[in-house]
Amino acid sequence: MQLLGIVGYPLQHTLSPVIQQAAIDFYGLPLRYEVWETPPEGLAAAVERLRGPEYLGMNVTVPHKEAIIPLLDRLERRARRIGAVNTVLNQRGRLTGYNTDAEGFQRALEDEAGFTIAGCRAVVLGAGGVARAVGVVLAEAGAAEATIVNRHPERAQALVRALRRRRSNTQFQALPWDEAQMQPLLARCDLLVNCTSIGMKHTATEGKSPLSAGLVLAQALVFDLVYNPGQTALLRLAKEAGARTLGGISMLVYQGVAAFEIWTQRQAPVGLMRERACEALGI
Ligand SMILES: NC(=O)c1ccc[n+]([C@@H]2O[C@H](COP(=O)([O-])OP(=O)(O)OC[C@H]3O[C@@H](n4cnc5c(N)ncnc54)[C@H](OP(=O)(O)O)[C@@H]3O)[C@@H](O)[C@H]2O)c1
Repeated sequence: MQLLGIVGYPLQHTLSPVIQQAAIDFYGLPLRYEVWETPPEGLAAAVERLRGPEYLGMNVTVPHKEAIIPLLDRLERRARRIGAVNTVLNQRGRLTGYNTDAEGFQRALEDEAGFTIAGCRAVVLGAGGVARAVGVVLAEAGAAEATIVNRHPERAQALVRALRRRRSNTQFQALPWDEAQMQPLLARCDLLVNCTSIGMKHTATEGKSPLSAGLVLAQALVFDLVYNPGQTALLRLAKEAGARTLGGISMLVYQGVAAFEIWTQRQAPVGLMRERACEALGI
């Protein structure tokens, strides 16, 4: 029996144990997935422990996704580009860091929604950790334009500067959070991604939409990365406007799918993992 787990702090709401154990049990693998709640001062010890033969790997979540990087031996290309790790593989004591948030975002868009990123015009709300992963995917997959909009504009500008350094063909620009300035871009974009936490359950913005009604139009695919609740206010507005929608649960499942495949080299049972995630969220 080998162990997998998740490190983060705090860890009350994680769905990773539910979806990963479902995939492990589907194949009857000799693995157990555990929750390792780890405050920042315990991270180095948790990483050292992971080098032991009884550990196969782990997921990494807030607040450790960046802090873990200097503690690892190797970074896979995308994790290096994004500057954040959410999955670690232990191979005979050597630890490699991956970023499957990026792959989760891309597979949800391409495999589930059938959306083509190449050539698209995207508007990204938010400039935090997940927006950085989204920006790297948009650049690598050949989006034509991507506008990053953030409440604190300096954070959007810093992200755009970092993404421009990657020398992709994507035209990145930053915009302050001003609906009048957003309106013309929203009217012509193909993809709108909410990378803010606005609308998330158990927060001050629960039930709120990041955009006013009337700003979201029918031509865009609207992807809300908030996964709890399953049906957010933004997705409701988008549906009312006649737009196609995608909920954050799809990305959550696909980042888990990618992690499972890295650890086990087996094709993850996507449908089962999604079913268990939806059950756990009551949707
Ligand atoms: N579906 C998935 O698999 C998945 C994966 C990762 C993350 N997520 C979700 O994505 C969201 C962001 O995660 P993250 O890791 O990027 O978090 P983060 O680094 O803390 O960034 C949070 C972002 O939300 C913005 N924000 C928060 N409250 C706001 C408000 N009241 N008004 C305007 N902007 C606000 C912040 O703007 P400022 O910079 O101005 O503060 C920042 O851009 C979370 O809800 C998370 O659950 C989903």
